[in-house]
Amino acid sequence: MHNLLKGKKGIIFGALNEHSIAWKTAERAHEEGAVFVLTNAPAAIRMGNLEVLAKKTNAQIIPADATSVEDLEHLVKKSMEILGAKIDFVLHSIGMSVNVRKGNSYTDPSYDFTTKGWDVSALSFHKTMHVLYQKKAMNEWGSIVALTYMAAQRVFPDYNDMADNKAYLESIARSFGYFFGRDHKVRVNTISQSPTPTKAGTGVKGFDGFSAYAEKMSPLGNATALECADYTISMFSDLTKKVTLQNLFHDGGFSNMGVSDAVMEKFE
Ligand SMILES: NC(=O)c1ccc[n+]([C@@H]2O[C@H](COP(=O)([O-])OP(=O)(O)OC[C@H]3O[C@@H](n4cnc5c(N)ncnc54)[C@H](O)[C@@H]3O)[C@@H](O)[C@H]2O)c1
Repeated sequence: MHNLLKGKKGIIFGALNEHSIAWKTAERAHEEGAVFVLTNAPAAIRMGNLEVLAKKTNAQIIPADATSVEDLEHLVKKSMEILGAKIDFVLHSIGMSVNVRKGNSYTDPSYDFTTKGWDVSALSFHKTMHVLYQKKAMNEWGSIVALTYMAAQRVFPDYNDMADNKAYLESIARSFGYFFGRDHKVRVNTISQSPTPTKAGTGVKGFDGFSAYAEKMSPLGNATALECADYTISMFSDLTKKVTLQNLFHDGGFSNMGVSDAVMEKFE
């Protein structure tokens, strides 16, 4: 390993099980010399096996529902106490649509579910940054990353209201990123990842189909969770200090493709 994050302190949201992108990122951050706090919603901590990751990475767990500003305030305060310093990096790796879970179509949602999913998947990013900003909790040249998907730009019918949530999330990264850059020299970006077989990913109807399609469309193939973790580490490192307000595609080239030979073959 390269000690890319030596001396850096962070908060990692969203590791549920060993398939989670946040799980792989925590493992890689640990390998690169970072110290961090792990957090997830209390119910997810009960359901998943975050303790295993915490042990492996010498991290403490602080439960927080990312829709609760009160929980986030507690999380940030406790994290700074535990880490003994301000924060250098934050990963927001959170997504959930109640409409998707309940099988409601995009054209006939429950708006209560839409609101809940938006709060969890998008507004929670604003709330997190709001707390970090107000508490002046980030070190200069710190880095904040949220994970997103290309359904924010293009139509993927079964991605449902998560498409709108991701569009909102990406906009928050730009808008808050401006103030964080101007006032605290902190960068804010989103990473737009390939379909990845995790709990959130495979919960989307037709996941296998659009994952296989993306694999055939992308010149480099789909990016794995571990590869996403690697890219995220580079965004937390000092090698990317002037990258901010960006939506960064990490998808094997999928986002710039029109059609590939492998897909054409299916129609010839
Ligand atoms: N898997 C994919 O295909 C894919 C592709 C692109 C982007 N992403 C994004 O990557 C991120 C991580 O997802 P993943 O694929 O690793 O799946 P995952 O299911 O492992 O992670 C989602 C996490 O969100 C957490 N979460 C849900 N509600 C929460 C709340 N109220 N407070 C705090 N945490 C909460 C869950 O507990 C879980 O740990 C998400 O933003 C997802 O949309 C995933």
